[in-house]
Amino acid sequence: MAVLSAGRGWPRTRASASDGLAAIAASRGLLYGAAAKSSSLVASPELASAYARECGMLVPEVGLKWQALRPDRDTFDFSDPDWLLRFAADHGLRFRGHTLIWYKALPAWVEREITPGNAESLLRQHFTTVIGHYRGRMHSWDVVNEGLDAHSDRSDGLRRSIWLENLGPEYIALAFHVAHEIDPAAMLVYNENEMDDDRPPSDRKRGMVLDLLGRLRSAGVPVAALGVQAHLRAGQAPFAATKVRDFLRQISGLGLKIIVSELDVSDRDAAGPMAERDQAVAAVYGDYLSAALDERGVVAVVTWGLSDQDSWLNSRLPRDSNRRVRPLPLDDTTRRKPAWHAIAAAFAAAPVR
Ligand code: G3I
Repeated sequence: MAVLSAGRGWPRTRASASDGLAAIAASRGLLYGAAAKSSSLVASPELASAYARECGMLVPEVGLKWQALRPDRDTFDFSDPDWLLRFAADHGLRFRGHTLIWYKALPAWVEREITPGNAESLLRQHFTTVIGHYRGRMHSWDVVNEGLDAHSDRSDGLRRSIWLENLGPEYIALAFHVAHEIDPAAMLVYNENEMDDDRPPSDRKRGMVLDLLGRLRSAGVPVAALGVQAHLRAGQAPFAATKVRDFLRQISGLGLKIIVSELDVSDRDAAGPMAERDQAVAAVYGDYLSAALDERGVVAVVTWGLSDQDSWLNSRLPRDSNRRVRPLPLDDTTRRKPAWHAIAAAFAAAPVR
């Protein structure tokens, strides 16, 4: 049985059928992890064991966003991410930060109080405290999340947000520079959504991301990786395998690493009984990962949760009549599903990096 870790410098092992996803990924030089909420792991020891068995990295799903961390201006509540960091450290898992600058999940007080006059010091104070709290312990930080909008009315494609409004378009470069000053060892990531399918908005978004990251790189901004969220759907217009391959090759060509950062596959639009939907979900996982992992610049794959019992999609985008979706590698009782086997097979077949 392989060592359950994908940490840098840890022994690379041959994977066997009983290995968790992290060990199979590690055998190809890849890191596999999942988003988590401490409340879910505390509530379910089975789920906690599944994370320890399957993952090489944890990402707080909610706990590092302003809304969760900063109920008021003077309070930093690290309880959820600190719990997860301890769990990660105890089980030899890496830890990844999501997310410092986003247009969503902001507490009302920030939206109320931010002005062009105080925005930079607000950002600096937040980064100093939050990045500083985890300095030297983060594999990577999502510094800016979803900064572009395929439907933007601006020529640079930037999404309207309190950050753009109060700091101007330079807020992205500023955020990366400040983050790098505070934790020079963390891989600094620009994370973005909706770049996967064959429709015009995704085409536009891929183009915008390439432009933005090209500009940041030329200007010496310390962005080190692109996070590709990849919230996919079975039974709908499929993701664009050729376009995804070309896009990831171009991103790599800019000298950037890639993290598939929030992967899940919803069966919301898939037809048929559960077993058929599970196969459709597994097929999308397999197809997507075989396209993405051909690009050696992809260094990590993170699923947005591990077990269906805990997926954000069940509260946000359930199936008709509020029926549950099955978008993750493990089912509601943490048993491995066809999706797990498809991910394992894609990892095992990936070129070694
Ligand atoms: O913890 C509180 C709880 O105390 C309260 O009773 C309850 C009432 O609504 O809310 C709970 O907080 C919720 C939290 O999830 C924990 O479950 C928030 O309302 C809810 O907004 C939050 O949703 C998260 C969302 O981001 C916003 O932060 C989802 O779990 C999380 O999966 C989702 O993740 C995003 C990524 O950050 C960016 N990419 C898209 C992805 C999916 O939307």
